[in-house]
Amino acid sequence: MALRIDIVTLFVEMFDGFLSAGVVGRANQRHLIEVHRTNIRDFSTNKYGSVDDAPFGGGVGMVLQCGPVYAAVEHVQGLASPRGHLVLLSPQGQPLTQALAVELAAMPRLVLLAGHYEGFDERIRPLVDREVSIGDFVLSGGEVAAMVVIDAVTRLLPGAIGKEESVEEESFSDGLLEYPQYTRPREFRGLSVPEILLNGDHEKIRLWRAEQAKERTRQRRPDLWAAYVKRHNDKDPRDAGETP
Ligand code: ADE
Repeated sequence: MALRIDIVTLFVEMFDGFLSAGVVGRANQRHLIEVHRTNIRDFSTNKYGSVDDAPFGGGVGMVLQCGPVYAAVEHVQGLASPRGHLVLLSPQGQPLTQALAVELAAMPRLVLLAGHYEGFDERIRPLVDREVSIGDFVLSGGEVAAMVVIDAVTRLLPGAIGKEESVEEESFSDGLLEYPQYTRPREFRGLSVPEILLNGDHEKIRLWRAEQAKERTRQRRPDLWAAYVKRHNDKDPRDAGETP
């Protein structure tokens, strides 16, 4: 059964290209995902069609009102069963990680709520099952964050990308960055492909790649490396000056 994803947003059109191209577009065509978009503005509670108002207590910007958000979410949740795990995209949420993408990909239905303006009226929180941030920066709205979540989740679905093992082998599948890859030509502007990849010894290549992944992670992402070492209950062999 397709993973049903409902997007609740003020900018349904932002998703047009995203949903029709690449891995997500193909997954959509192959019915691995079924995406529906709902415009919060269609649930405006006044004759002007507005969905935001000035903040109580003063301050700059506008705040998305409860009424239209509740109405839109309740409408969407009633469209299909189960009602769906409601994910609010916000910089205040739980950071998106590969582990969280795996968790979300196992859900039967997701409802993604993207905010705008200065934020939501705080009283929308009872609707929310989970709040997710895609990083420590502020976007002008939750739509791009929702696309990031959809992309990370969709590519994990069986059949979404060519070889299933490519999901297994890539960056973060074991909490490590990916090893370097090369393709033809063997020599490009004086830069050559590491000899070990050319000699056809698959076991040596596997070990070299594992080593490269570890070394890259250690150099570039000490936070991920520390977590890896802890998880594997290893000493970092390099710290001890030993060869692994
Ligand atoms: N909305 C605005 N900024 C965001 C972020 N960093 N992550 C998720 N949603 C957002």
